Amino acid sequence: MSRRLLISGNWKMNLDHLQAIHLVQDLGLRLTAADVAGLDVTVHPPFTDLRSVQSVVEERRIPVELGAQDCAPDDAGAFTGEVSPVMLARLHVAYVIAGHSERRRLFGETDEVVAAKLRAIVRNGMTPICCVGETADERDAGATRERLVAQVSSAAGALAPEQVGSMAIAYEPVWAIGTGSAATPEDAQEACAWVREAVGDVAGADAATTVRVLYGGSVTADNTAELVAMPDVDGVLVGGASLEATAFAAIIRSANGVG
Ligand code: 13P
Repeated sequence: MSRRLLISGNWKMNLDHLQAIHLVQDLGLRLTAADVAGLDVTVHPPFTDLRSVQSVVEERRIPVELGAQDCAPDDAGAFTGEVSPVMLARLHVAYVIAGHSERRRLFGETDEVVAAKLRAIVRNGMTPICCVGETADERDAGATRERLVAQVSSAAGALAPEQVGSMAIAYEPVWAIGTGSAATPEDAQEACAWVREAVGDVAGADAATTVRVLYGGSVTADNTAELVAMPDVDGVLVGGASLEATAFAAIIRSANGVG
């Protein structure tokens, strides 16, 4: 079974709307149709940039889909400061990240909150990219698999099996994020296979076959090809290197050479 590669750029809390317009225009100038043929590319700007990026992407037919970095679990109501998944969908947001380790660690998001967000994303016709991953301490304690199984079981249990099968799960070891030291392709493969197995246990074999499992954490154009060459790695979730058009375009091209 060949799954379509997904290359996603998480801009985190970087770039105002003018800088965002420049980046996506620059990306558009660098990417040819051939560069993105056979794979999906998403960019996840801050909320305040989404409308601007949407306009540029649609006007210039830049071959990327729009993503968000988070959303509220509820559609509307008295939730000061939250961002509604209904409103994201209206902006043609197609993919939404849920449960990034920065949100789990810095903002106290539990597996239960992440599960509610996954349901909200799917309810509004968007595709979740659910992040899972172990900390350095958990890794040192030999608890990586156990941690991943707990996070993935909660996420997969929140959705119907066919919804699980069409989502993406990003394995992002916390110790690899922003450190310049990515997991080896072999370690990424092992962890992504555990993720897929946990999906199968909760949502069945069909979901496990079609769910896309990405790797994230210090991805660059230099390590993308060897990562996505692994059988259970179906793409990459890129932080820092997605903030620069040259670097992100090089990642996309190098993934496409493999896919
Ligand atoms: P870096 O690519 O900067 O390590 O960030 C990874 C990440 O957290 C993407 O969501």
